[in-house]
Amino acid sequence: MQVLNDLSALDHSRPIALVPTMGALHAGHAALIEKAREITDSIVVSIFVNPLQFEDSEDLAKYPRSPERDIELARSAGASVVWMPEKNNFYPTNFEVIPSPIMGEKFEGAQRRGHFSGVLTAVNALFTQILPRYAIFGEKDFQQLFLVRQLVRERNMDIEVVGVPTVRDTEGLALSSRNARLSEVEREAALIINQALCKAMQKESLSEAKFSLVKTLSKEPLFTLDYAAIVDEDTFELATQDTVHKRALVAGWINGIRLIDNMAMTSVEQ
Ligand code: PAF
Repeated sequence: MQVLNDLSALDHSRPIALVPTMGALHAGHAALIEKAREITDSIVVSIFVNPLQFEDSEDLAKYPRSPERDIELARSAGASVVWMPEKNNFYPTNFEVIPSPIMGEKFEGAQRRGHFSGVLTAVNALFTQILPRYAIFGEKDFQQLFLVRQLVRERNMDIEVVGVPTVRDTEGLALSSRNARLSEVEREAALIINQALCKAMQKESLSEAKFSLVKTLSKEPLFTLDYAAIVDEDTFELATQDTVHKRALVAGWINGIRLIDNMAMTSVEQ
């Protein structure tokens, strides 16, 4: 595996699968790299903590960083290249700033102003410099995945965006780099999110599922809810009884640490 900080040495002779990350890699990222390996043998993992997607400088400063461990995890998961640019080498000169689309102003975007503009600007900078044929994203950031698909579609990019199901720990907590900041008690409290999603999934109607979601989340005193909603996966509008692919989204905080999760509501029929 090569570790590059300059992309001029990147081999373009085979179709590239890009796994964009901000480092602090964990088993969820390993699953993305393993998915990429099923598709091609040229896998580029980018590691860059993108300041443009943090609206709060303290959150950016506290974002976990573990470059040596990241290189080892990427290597053992099967990456071909890790691109770890220096702060000033990630964005090309005159890079395009992508404004947030309407669907990027809701949910995560409503709370985190400018977040999706920052994410899409970074993703577009990656796509234009690495020229991947495939781009692999986790379903955990479901709104991000939706918006990246929209960007690729609207700009007719020749990139297949592949979504990979969320990896959870043995108790159901969605793996996230931010989990490293949770104490043991806070981690226990965070389990309420998966429990609420699983309970809601068992309901037959949309109204019961929504009610159940909020009710279960309200039982955990350490968890402060930001939003809980059920959306149409294909449009990101709020789901109606006629929506075929419903997905519940949850976001909130435990002791100032932001946690998000989501789950397909496959049994919710009306
Ligand atoms: O999902 C992430 O880690 C980031 O939002 C991404 C896609 C690497 C862009 O900075």
